[in-house]
Amino acid sequence: MPDDFTRAESAAQFLLSQTKLRPKIGLVLGSGLGAFADQLTNAARIPYSQIPAFPRSTAIGHAGQMVIGKAGDIPLAAMQGRVHLYEGYTAKEVAFPIRVFGRMGVRAVILTNAAGGINLEYEQGALVVVSDHINLQGHNPLLGPNDDRLGQRFPDMTKAYWRSYREATVEEAGKLGMTVYQGVYAAMLGPSYETPAEIRYLRTIGADLVGMSTISEAVAAVHMGLKVLAISCVTNMAAGILDKPIDHREVLETGERVRGQFEALLKAVLPRIAADFEV
Ligand code: HPA
Repeated sequence: MPDDFTRAESAAQFLLSQTKLRPKIGLVLGSGLGAFADQLTNAARIPYSQIPAFPRSTAIGHAGQMVIGKAGDIPLAAMQGRVHLYEGYTAKEVAFPIRVFGRMGVRAVILTNAAGGINLEYEQGALVVVSDHINLQGHNPLLGPNDDRLGQRFPDMTKAYWRSYREATVEEAGKLGMTVYQGVYAAMLGPSYETPAEIRYLRTIGADLVGMSTISEAVAAVHMGLKVLAISCVTNMAAGILDKPIDHREVLETGERVRGQFEALLKAVLPRIAADFEV
């Protein structure tokens, strides 16, 4: 079996052969947030099943295609849906699309997700810029021999979530009259939601949000020298905070409800990130 670098390279070349656009920004759209990519213009829409070596999503609410198109005049590569560890994929497989982005020439990734709110200041529907993460998944996409063509053995994670992108997001949200928080995202393996005791533990160790995605992707992105912005949509308050069970339908519905705000924020932030790569 060819190595990850070679597989990512061939998937990247395949994707680039489907479009004349050369995006510098890659976007991963999480549960209930995929519709943004429907609006891209000049778009090539490529089902994951057609992309060599690409993992396929089995989660409800994830469409499973790559859309390469333009948001205004900014070329973007957007994933409608991702795969998760809880589907049985390895962290390397989960991170593979980020490797492909990197080999396509993408320089910054925007990772989005649905998350449970642990911080009691948050409310359902809040948007939170991830400032840092706590990896409780027991997995890491860099496990095994390091491929120096992708990145170095021990990547520094102190600046994983790029400060100027976070600040730009908070600033743009302000201009739109929206409140956006910044918080620490803890990732669990899933697929069961957390217990109330686990949520109390996560709050104690400094987590503001909890989810089941994003971290493997962020680690692989940092490994390749890609800058990362991650935005969570608080689709529900985490287990035990409200006196009611957590329901995946509610997660999707909240994503749908804040879609307008989320899309407005993305549109405002994209030019700020694109400006980073203009020569
Ligand atoms: N926990 C974990 N993942 C999630 C949640 C949650 O409460 N909501 C959306 N994704």
